Amino acid sequence: NLKIVNVKLVLLGETTTGKSSLVLRFVNNDFQENKESTIGAAFLTQKCRFEDKVIKFEIWVTSGQERFNSLAPMYYRNALAVIVVYDVTKAVTLDRAKSWVKELKRQANPNIIIALVGNKIDLVQPYEDESGEYGEYGRQVPTEEAKAYALEAGLLFFETSAKNGDGVRDVFVEIAKKLPLE
Ligand code: GTP
Repeated sequence: NLKIVNVKLVLLGETTTGKSSLVLRFVNNDFQENKESTIGAAFLTQKCRFEDKVIKFEIWVTSGQERFNSLAPMYYRNALAVIVVYDVTKAVTLDRAKSWVKELKRQANPNIIIALVGNKIDLVQPYEDESGEYGEYGRQVPTEEAKAYALEAGLLFFETSAKNGDGVRDVFVEIAKKLPLE
C-alpha cells in the first residue's frame, strides 16, 4: 500500500522563459513551438513514484506577464516548493528570477524549497575556433554565474530544455528528495 503525498508546487519567472513548457514536458512529455502565454495561472497534476511513496505534484503555473504579478502570493503562500525559471539566452530574465527569489525569502514560508532553472539550453551552441578556444553561441547567462548565485542564495540549480527534455525530470526528482516527507 503506497502512501500518496500531495505536494503543492508553483512556477514563477519572466514571461516566455518556458514555465508552461517545462510542465507540459514533465506531465505530458510534449512540447509546443508557439505556445500562447498563460492568462492568470494554470493548474496541472502529476503523480511520481518516489521510494515507497507516490508524490502527487499539484502544479500552479503562474503567468509571467507583469499585469498578473500581484496574484503570485496567492499561489506561493501555501506551496512546499517553487521553481523560478529564467531563459539562458536572455540575461534580464535572471535579474527577474533574482527579484522573485528576494520576494519569496521575504514573504513565503521560510522552509519553502526553491529551485532556480535556466531553460532553453537547446538554443546554446558550443563551438571551437581555429586556435582551439571553446565557447558558446547564444548564451547570455554563464552556467557558473547562475550556479554561484544559487549556491549563495541556498537554491537548487538546474539547466533545462523543455524543447528536447534535457534536465526537466531532474528538477522534480531533486525537489522530491528535499521534501520533508512525514
Ligand atoms: P508566460 O505564460 O507568458 O509567462 O510564458 P511561459 O514562461 O509559460 O513560457 P512558454 O512555456 O509559454 O514558452 C514561451 C515560448 O518559448 C514558446 O514559444 C515555447 O515554445 C518556447 N520555449 C519554451 N521552452 C523552450 C525551450 O526549452 N527551448 C526552446 N527553444 N524554446 C522554448
